[in-house]
Amino acid sequence: MARIKKANLKLGNKSFDLPVITGSEGEVGVDITSLRKTSGAVTFDNGFANTASCKSAITFVDGENGILRHRGYDIVDLVENCSFVEVAYLLVHGALPTAAELKRFSRYLNQHSMIHENMHHFFSGFPADSHPMAILASMVTSLSSFYPLLSHRDPTFDITSARLISKVRTIAAFSYKKSQGAPLVYPRYDLSYCANFLNMMFSSPVDPYEIDVELVRILNKLLILHVDHEQNCSTTAVRLIASARANLYAAISAGICALWGPLHGGANQAVIDMLNRIKNDNRNVKKAIERAKAGKHEDRLMGFGHAVYKNYDPRARLCKKMCDDLFSKRDINDPLLDIARELEEIALKDDYFVSRRLYPNVDFYTGILYRAMGIPTNMLTVMFALGRLPGWIAQWKETVENRKARIYRPRQIYTGPEKRRFVPIDQRKPGIKGRVLPPVVKNL
Ligand code: ACO
Repeated sequence: MARIKKANLKLGNKSFDLPVITGSEGEVGVDITSLRKTSGAVTFDNGFANTASCKSAITFVDGENGILRHRGYDIVDLVENCSFVEVAYLLVHGALPTAAELKRFSRYLNQHSMIHENMHHFFSGFPADSHPMAILASMVTSLSSFYPLLSHRDPTFDITSARLISKVRTIAAFSYKKSQGAPLVYPRYDLSYCANFLNMMFSSPVDPYEIDVELVRILNKLLILHVDHEQNCSTTAVRLIASARANLYAAISAGICALWGPLHGGANQAVIDMLNRIKNDNRNVKKAIERAKAGKHEDRLMGFGHAVYKNYDPRARLCKKMCDDLFSKRDINDPLLDIARELEEIALKDDYFVSRRLYPNVDFYTGILYRAMGIPTNMLTVMFALGRLPGWIAQWKETVENRKARIYRPRQIYTGPEKRRFVPIDQRKPGIKGRVLPPVVKNL
């Protein structure tokens, strides 16, 4: 098909020519950058589902056909052939590392794995039942005051990015240990990235953890599966903060907060909570399906549906297979896995889900795999953040390196009151009729 170069917009009796951009996989984008200036009009796109907010060379997603590639490499090839550290390098640096580059990058990861001893006090300040995502976001922001070399122009940026990837893993494991009231286990130079994480999580000074190579292999794959997913909610948050030229740690912290939401990365925790609810409700899978179909947001089938995939999420397919392999190889059972399989089977035959093209997404099976590794439910979204970190770093870098990148500043369609007369306080009537304010209570 001939390449389209121009689009034409008719607004009233005026018409406007708009340039068309074509991506390397053939996606067509109408460039409306000049629209407001020339016509006075803006576009309205609820949830930005039709808006490309940037040009990016990092990740390609074809949601119709279930395709996901990073820097041109298919996700299946990366999961089957690479370690997480190799893929992290690919994302941040744009190419797969040579053996020498990988060795150097791994050395950086090891040498920067500890956190400043003063940061240890921060952990003690959080209540014992704090959510690990709250701790992670706060700790990542505070890293900026301990390690202030933040600019992508800094010759040590390679170290800055490796430092962040390494330290976030340490912070994640420390936050778990603190929540258990258990002593912190420091990272070890002799262990690989994923083995180190499992060791920090599960060993103790009185009971060393025997590294389980099968679990290390699965953790590598799970982190790769989460490494990036183009302009999703958390990545857009990272790029938004980057567009104001805020530092890397500030932007990543925003990404962590966005990821926490149950409609996004927090869905992995929400899936396990939902499966547990079904288990405790006499395993009534059909009832859960019927409730999900009734349309209430809070009853949605968590881990189902995706803003971009209108087909089986390729990451969910890989996770499901990993579940099947691990559980049969180890001859282990988890009632939640049986419920998940049953839910999927019923949903994929039900017209509600079929007609809306709702399939399992990446979060549907990951929680079950992490449970089999001993990772607690409230750490699941932290695991997602660990995997997503190299993607966020790459997206931050791409934004700040782009000299043409403008600050993200969307417009709006104002729907509030028109101009009205100012009313002095003694003449004002209650704004909302029948609204009862809660009593004032003393709070510490
Ligand atoms: N269960 C039941 N119904 C659903 C679900 C679901 N999980 N997801 C969407 N629907 C329904 C909606 O109610 C809507 O129905 P309607 O047409 O009758 O109004 C229709 O399907 C389309 O839904 P949208 O909200 O327009 O879908 P959108 O693409 O905006 O949302 C989202 C995507 C947020 C992922 C949604 O599918 C959802 O809430 N899923 C559950 C949460 C989840 O698993 N999130 C993780 C996503 S993956 C990630 O972020 C890493």
